[in-house]
Amino acid sequence: MRTHIVDHPLASALLTIMRDERTPNPAFRGALRDLTGILIYEALRAAPVTTFEVATPVAVTEGVRLAHPPLLVPVLRAGLGMVEAASELIPESRVGFVGIARDERTHQPVPYLESLPESLAGVPVFVLDPMLATGGSMRHTLELLVAREATDITAVCVVAAPEGVAALEESGLPVRLVTATIDTGLNENAYIVPGLGDAGDRQFGPR
Ligand code: PRP
Ligand code: URA
Repeated sequence: MRTHIVDHPLASALLTIMRDERTPNPAFRGALRDLTGILIYEALRAAPVTTFEVATPVAVTEGVRLAHPPLLVPVLRAGLGMVEAASELIPESRVGFVGIARDERTHQPVPYLESLPESLAGVPVFVLDPMLATGGSMRHTLELLVAREATDITAVCVVAAPEGVAALEESGLPVRLVTATIDTGLNENAYIVPGLGDAGDRQFGPR
């Protein structure tokens, strides 16, 4: 699996705001939104473009647009906070939804929502989820996408654990990972260390 760790001072500063336990929910959401913009920008670095003629007020010149805008798939709840920034950068993108809540005791993914286009053949997909911990939720999401014939999938995460990266590698599923950091590991509750806590609660408050 190709893994791209986005190494940029602005990304590191925004991640620091998100890690800080004193950051209130609105500022956490703002930092996630801004960091998502940087991650999407990097995720699209090698995206193919098509060219077309555009007239400036002075002359006609060559313009470009994304050849294949990705389908955006936030994993609810926490991925919701990444949709607005991604959609603003790629306004022509469609958005699908997957809802998964991790069982607090077993740490297994419990799916509760799937709203995706019927066929994803030939469609690049960006899965938006700030946290890749055990990798169970992401793996389940990837399996849903592959069942719909997706072959070009990018997991856009903020914090990844080595255990989650290994789980995706072992799955053999067609995915690349773009993340702001790979942290030290998981604790006994399968939370990422140092991480940032519960990304859903930190945006929306506790369930
Ligand atoms: C978080 C996070 C991921 C998942 C990661 O969601 O947003 O979806 O945990 O953990 P995993 O890699 O071990 O599966 P959570 O289940 O807490 O739900 P929420 O987004 O509704 O808070
Ligand atoms: N989900 C989160 O929101 N945070 C973690 O550290 C692990 C899973």
